[in-house]
Amino acid sequence: MPALAIVGLQWGDEGKGKITDYISELADSVVRFQGGANAGHTVEFEKKTFKFHQVPSGVLHKRVTGIIANGSAVDPEELAAELRTLAERGYVIRKFHISDRAHLVMPYHKQLDALEEAFKGGSAVGTTRKGIGPCYSDKAARIGFRAGELLDVESLKEKAEVVIRIKKAYASSLSGELEIDVAGLMNRMREWAGALSPFITDTSFIVNDAMEKGKNVLFEGAHGLMLDIDHGNYPYVTSSNIVTGNVFTGSGLNPMRRVGVLGVLKAYSTRVGAGPFPTELFDETGEHLALKGMEVGTTTGRRRRCGWLDLFAAKYAIQLSGAKEIALTKMDVLSGLGRLKIATGYTYNGKRLKQYPSSFSVLRDSKPVYRELPGWMEQLDEGAQRWASLPTAAKRYVSFVEEYLGVRAKIVSVGHSREQTIVRGKVAFG
Ligand code: IMP
Repeated sequence: MPALAIVGLQWGDEGKGKITDYISELADSVVRFQGGANAGHTVEFEKKTFKFHQVPSGVLHKRVTGIIANGSAVDPEELAAELRTLAERGYVIRKFHISDRAHLVMPYHKQLDALEEAFKGGSAVGTTRKGIGPCYSDKAARIGFRAGELLDVESLKEKAEVVIRIKKAYASSLSGELEIDVAGLMNRMREWAGALSPFITDTSFIVNDAMEKGKNVLFEGAHGLMLDIDHGNYPYVTSSNIVTGNVFTGSGLNPMRRVGVLGVLKAYSTRVGAGPFPTELFDETGEHLALKGMEVGTTTGRRRRCGWLDLFAAKYAIQLSGAKEIALTKMDVLSGLGRLKIATGYTYNGKRLKQYPSSFSVLRDSKPVYRELPGWMEQLDEGAQRWASLPTAAKRYVSFVEEYLGVRAKIVSVGHSREQTIVRGKVAFG
């Protein structure tokens, strides 16, 4: 099958950027189908570090065409800046398309994101403040602006007047004031059109055409499945669908096409923002994971919350993703911990739960049931990176994950660089 989707199995930050970049060597196109500048992917390429938010991770490879498909929320200002920065570093991205149906994150979306969060006080979601929720809300309310509309900015004045009136009224109901007026917004849209118009087109035809021609198309998921708006830990989620099914809705891919799935699972858990996290650690082990794993948000600079690997949640994510193969990342971070714990279930009110809970309050009050495994002291990111040279305890950790989830860990990542990647068999497009 020429299509492969890469999906995060936790709360984002699983190391998808490195894995996507690694696999995109085999790809002809890399497609983003949901999310926007709230995502942050770190990639090492030609010994340099790149932080991507909207540009698909594989675009540094010359043969790869990058596509931001219709399910994405495009922040035109930040996207133009990202392309500019890449060009300044010597990577001019030409093979690149933006769906004319993708919704635009407007300046007032970011302002409203902050106002809503402040208004919610103690029940704030802890969003990235990138305007994602307000943008997708407007899409559903049918008052959004789509990238295709930038191709005819002058026709947008009347719509801009109506939308700004609605937004100003909403902002004042949240005790805020919008910083933008119609003339200002029209000017901004003219600027965005100047920078992005050459890339805007109906990408559904490009994606389906590539599949028809047997090209390798990689669908790059942003975030992780536990942040999915329907299936994640609502309301502490993002505002798009992250599940593999959204590959079709979010790109217009013919649903009769088969799509392979590679799940990405970090060897421990992290979460940014608020929301239940049963395996969270507040002790020196949590500190070890945060420091050694450099767990600081790519987008927000916020310190990530850290905890033991939660396989009860991951098993649910495997069902949502359809993954039979996974990349297990950041195994090197576990080096130096005497004993390791993995959650294999939860109890709630003293009873073992049969299924991962959908209720926020059940999840909040659930206690993890742990399995203890021996740790290892050896540093995994030094020396030869081969499966055979991993310490026995590390191999056992990987095997435990595989058996519990019923998947094969095709890739085991033990460091930032491409060389620090153990590949156990072909990661297949076809
Ligand atoms: P939003 O997507 O900015 O609306 O934020 C909603 C929730 O998703 C917050 O808890 C964010 O911290 C979280 N979130 C969004 N994107 C990412 C990501 O790429 N990594 C980790 N958490 C994320």
